[in-house]
Amino acid sequence: MTQLIDGKALASSLMAKLKNSVAQQQRQITLAVVQVGDDPASTVYIRNKHKACEKVGIRSLHIHLEGDITSGSLLDTVHTLNSREDVDGILVQLPLPSGIDEGEVIRAIDPAKDVDGFHPINIGRMMLGEDCLLPCTPAGIIALLKSNGVDINGKECVVVGRSNIVGKPVAQLLLQAHGTVTQCHSRTRNLAEVCRRADILVAAVGVPRLINADFVKPGAVVIDVGIHRMADNTLCGDVDFDSVKDIVGAITPVPGGVGPMTIAMLMQNCVRAGHCGN
Ligand code: GUN
Repeated sequence: MTQLIDGKALASSLMAKLKNSVAQQQRQITLAVVQVGDDPASTVYIRNKHKACEKVGIRSLHIHLEGDITSGSLLDTVHTLNSREDVDGILVQLPLPSGIDEGEVIRAIDPAKDVDGFHPINIGRMMLGEDCLLPCTPAGIIALLKSNGVDINGKECVVVGRSNIVGKPVAQLLLQAHGTVTQCHSRTRNLAEVCRRADILVAAVGVPRLINADFVKPGAVVIDVGIHRMADNTLCGDVDFDSVKDIVGAITPVPGGVGPMTIAMLMQNCVRAGHCGN
């Protein structure tokens, strides 16, 4: 029987623990979410982050700026949040409007408040295996594997995708957990063949249902990071779930797999940033 890796259940148990730890704190923990413009997907993501904050007992601020704001004003906003003692975590929702340099904005965030784990200082610390704020989706994937009894040590891990947010950092975390890691991308030759080597396959490509029965080895553990709304309004991942479900050993559903874990890890990062004091 194929095991369904339930991200929703693990996320809600983590959130319950975080709620307890927040309740024991003397100080209010605060997350500031900066939105630039009105990208509809960003609006939905931000709403979900605010709801999660409410569940855990974290105060959330929504700083909503006009889409035509200058880089300078956005950077001023970030600097102000850096210096506010009542703000523990800062998240600038991506993507930013064209014309704004995302890297410059991320670098402006105080690394101690960088709850996305996107600042080069945090990425560098992660590469060195140091304690730091980790990117939420990759950290959520590792937590899902560990809590579902998947041993990474010595396993063939194949990551499809090389984004800064998911592909690169998840490959690094799998390596630190002693996996043998192969990173694939759009130029990889014989992608299906490489994927079939995987004991643990992470699909973070952004192509609906790319990974089908040709790409999986019997018994493999499949983590699907993609989430796509199709023309018929249904959601699907980067993995063709129905095609692989009777072959693989375990798989995350979409929705209800990686998505809820990303938010739970964001809440965990907010609590950590709060504990560290700023
Ligand atoms: N846009 C899509 N995913 C993310 C994320 O994890 N963090 C931020 N800041 N923006 C995003």
